[in-house]
Amino acid sequence: MGDLAGVVGKLPYLAGLGVDGLWLNPFYASPGHDHGYDVADHCAVDPAYGSLEGFDELVATAHGHGIRVILDVVPNHASIAHPWFAAALAAGPGSPQRGRFHFADGRGPDGNEPPNNWRSIFGGPAWTRISEPDGTPGQWYLHTFAAEQPDWNWTHADVPALFERVLSFWLDRGVDGFRVDVAQGLHKKPGLPDHPDAAADEATGDPVNPNAWNQPAVHQVWRSWRRLVEDYTAADGRDRLLIGEVGLTDPAAVADYTRPGELHHTFCFPFAHAHFDADTYRQVITTALAHHPDGVAWVANNHDLPRAVTRHTPTPSDSDGDGDGEELPAGADPAQIGLARARAAAALMLALPGAVYLYQGEELGLPDVADLPVTVLKDPMYHRSGGTRPGRDGCRVPLPWTTSPDHHHGFSPPATTTPAWLPQPPTWADLAADTQHHTTTSTLNLYRQALALRRTIPDLATTTLTLHTDTPPGLLALTRGTHLTTYTNTTHHPIPTPHPHPGQPILTTHPTPHPTDTIPPNTTVWYHHDDETPA
Ligand code: NOJ
Repeated sequence: MGDLAGVVGKLPYLAGLGVDGLWLNPFYASPGHDHGYDVADHCAVDPAYGSLEGFDELVATAHGHGIRVILDVVPNHASIAHPWFAAALAAGPGSPQRGRFHFADGRGPDGNEPPNNWRSIFGGPAWTRISEPDGTPGQWYLHTFAAEQPDWNWTHADVPALFERVLSFWLDRGVDGFRVDVAQGLHKKPGLPDHPDAAADEATGDPVNPNAWNQPAVHQVWRSWRRLVEDYTAADGRDRLLIGEVGLTDPAAVADYTRPGELHHTFCFPFAHAHFDADTYRQVITTALAHHPDGVAWVANNHDLPRAVTRHTPTPSDSDGDGDGEELPAGADPAQIGLARARAAAALMLALPGAVYLYQGEELGLPDVADLPVTVLKDPMYHRSGGTRPGRDGCRVPLPWTTSPDHHHGFSPPATTTPAWLPQPPTWADLAADTQHHTTTSTLNLYRQALALRRTIPDLATTTLTLHTDTPPGLLALTRGTHLTTYTNTTHHPIPTPHPHPGQPILTTHPTPHPTDTIPPNTTVWYHHDDETPA
């Protein structure tokens, strides 16, 4: 599974990569029905991952490396193993204990239909019926995600109070902030009315239910959490960060979550979802900066998305004869194009102002593992959708540290004899961190180089960004500050730089040497120039 001690052991690697913060996915006590996003005890480390003492060591060691630590906090839902859920089942209908969750009587003559038509994000109804303590068929409880993840009722005073205690518990142990899971959730529309278009939720898994998401009251929660973390900062002068996962599609609605006094950041998911296309990136960057002038949190990969290498791998137009794929140059290898594009997109992202969130293994150029045997799949999204949605296991396979396949390419301790929780494919030997460390043009060294430049070039520390408009089709050009211009060529043919003397190339995502005044296909190049005119 990996554990906290393993993270401590890799902190020197993370410091060498050049990151300045570490976001840990949930490691709390959990039965693991959704990879730890079903929390049974928010203030305990699951024994599979270690102990509180091990956590304290992790924070201290990370801080010693100049790496800050933020935790995942999961406030929309609990676990069926949470003691308050057990208390709710035992206490019966109408009790204050049930009031901490959304319990309701069913519809239909015997109450055997769910209280409303809401669908679970992972597929199937968002309600599960319980047996009452006397064994009779009973009420239903709401779960926006898996049935093992009952939604909290945020209008019950115990719930906000619980989470204030949880935040304080971890802040007192030295953490630097929180990534807030499903930050658009928490409050539901009073009365839980039917969703006018519930079938759409089921079809896409997208959070479009206007009665379950983005209720005005949720902003009060973020204001109170912000006050809480600001109190810690006021006491010791250390910054604390709140970054929200806000899964809404309207950028203006997402921007509401970072109004003064609310969350500091929200992830910019449109960047991750963007097709590898200059116009699309231009539009995504413009929109993000317009809505978040104080700082965008860019993201190209995370534990919920197919990895960028796979997402950007083109489907050739003739592969299935339906003509809706992409025209590729003769002899082109789609997988290599996917990798080239992921590298180019990463270098574009790392040139942007704001924060950048990387997902473990993207610095190795890992693709998704698409052919995991069904027997090892863990994701409730796969299981609840009856296999129609592939789920997220493919992006969660442990990364290969060593070329040697021994103990899961160095992921597990040497004595390990059991399989890794998700198996690595044999081809990953070529992508191992130890090999890439020694290869100048590797993806690992590309990320290291870009992160180092991001820290040292003053223009990249400014908030100034000029998107060029006079570029040829398929070329995205932007200038940071006054001396750094980057070009991203999203086509399959080389494009000369619009300026004959673009400056000194300081980073290229192309693995082999190329003329300095030409951007190769599917490539980003960074130039440093002395003059103040954008190159
Ligand atoms: C978002 C998390 O990133 C995802 O992994 C999880 O399944 C859902 N929220 C539910 O907690």
